[in-house]
Amino acid sequence: MPITYVPEPFRIKMVETIRLLTREERTRKIREAHHNVFNLRAEDVYIDLLTDSGTSAMSAEQWSGVMRGDEAYAGARSYFRLLDTGRALFGYEYVQPVHQGRAAEKVLFPLLMGPGQVAISNMFFDTTRAHVELAGARALDCVVPEARDTRAQVPFKGNMDTAQLERLIAEHAGQVAAVVMTITNNSAGGQPVSLRNMRDTAEICRRHGLPLVIDAARFAENAYFIQQREAEYRDWSVRDIVREFFRYGDAFTMSAKKDALVNMGGLIGVKSDPALVQRVKGNTIAFEGFTSYGGLSGRDLEALATGLEEGLDETYLRYRTGQVAYLASILDEHGIPYQSPPGGHGLFIDAQAMLPHIPYTQFPGQALAVELYVEAGIRTCDIGSFMLGNNPDTGEQLRADFEFTRLAVPRRVYTQAHFDVMAGALIAIQARAAQVPGYRITWEPPVLRHFQAELEPVGVPHAAPLPG
Ligand code: F0G
Repeated sequence: MPITYVPEPFRIKMVETIRLLTREERTRKIREAHHNVFNLRAEDVYIDLLTDSGTSAMSAEQWSGVMRGDEAYAGARSYFRLLDTGRALFGYEYVQPVHQGRAAEKVLFPLLMGPGQVAISNMFFDTTRAHVELAGARALDCVVPEARDTRAQVPFKGNMDTAQLERLIAEHAGQVAAVVMTITNNSAGGQPVSLRNMRDTAEICRRHGLPLVIDAARFAENAYFIQQREAEYRDWSVRDIVREFFRYGDAFTMSAKKDALVNMGGLIGVKSDPALVQRVKGNTIAFEGFTSYGGLSGRDLEALATGLEEGLDETYLRYRTGQVAYLASILDEHGIPYQSPPGGHGLFIDAQAMLPHIPYTQFPGQALAVELYVEAGIRTCDIGSFMLGNNPDTGEQLRADFEFTRLAVPRRVYTQAHFDVMAGALIAIQARAAQVPGYRITWEPPVLRHFQAELEPVGVPHAAPLPG
């Protein structure tokens, strides 16, 4: 029996029409897109699960904040409202708005690290990794080994491997610039980090004099999982858990496009380091704009201040994580494998296990993404070897730890019926899994190839060339 769907704790006031093309049209569209879902037009997609980033539905409160936004260049009222909200929630002295998560990384990371140094994380997201490398340092992942077993039912698969962290710090003695804790751990499947693990990691950092930075994109979902899964915090509010978690960090970067429920925005937080605050302000002015707007409009700041609060509502978080768990429970009945337990912002299907005949060099995660579009107009993305790319020295295809197809769930956007469509599509594909082809790349750009690369199926049924 699927678990009960948690009813939406809101009603809908404004709608956007979506349409489902015919199967023939979808087959043609994906071929014209060279089998890369990033090349599809959004209007040709029925259910868009490409990302949970910037795709939330804002509330009536947020929209009314948009009208109240103060557009003064310096010292806008909306900025002070955001500052006060951020300080109260996280307990950090300074909170800097920026235009999105990677802007926060671009401003902060060069102030913490440089050439010859390394940064260690429970798992870097692609842009965080890129900004570590742009700052001249090297990025090392250090997630607990059980994260790599998609069937293992472990409550905090996002955790830092603290023993390995100690080893890495010893191995790179004097070169470690910072430790980054990503919550939730996106690349490992939206898996949470426990408060105990955060505390242990902070203790190691303190002993070695290393700054601990939180990559806080999904801070509210992480706190909700702590409340649900970590016995010590069962009676704590999500808000108190957030405050406690951030107590162990020294700074944070945040893409506010996720748990803070806005379509654009980001934050940097500094706990108590006036010299660092001054340097953050300097870089922000150079890259993003004056400190009191940081690349955002006054109306965005206003919507963000409200979104930070709404994202912590426990009734909403129960519904949100419940949606993913509901989908997972239907897949369980059909033996469709995913990174379990289900994550916070989406379900990461284990495409390698579902399509065992497709080698990693033919991108099972991408193959399943193409099939989901053809089957039901659902757009997802590969989080696997297709995304990972080639070894820059040898040009050889790298093998990813996982071959996932990610169904990322936009916040407050899709209903139970949409989730049933997702489940139905996966079940239909599973029934014809042996016929699903692998893919080869016919063109790729030199960096971040998955956004632009062109592919074709290898030896296959729907591989007929495009007419003309
Ligand atoms: N950190 C994490 C953990 C992220 O998941 C993202 C973005 C960023 C930083 C960068 O933030 O997009 O606002 O610049 N993740 C999106 C995703 C794009 O689809 O997972 P950004």
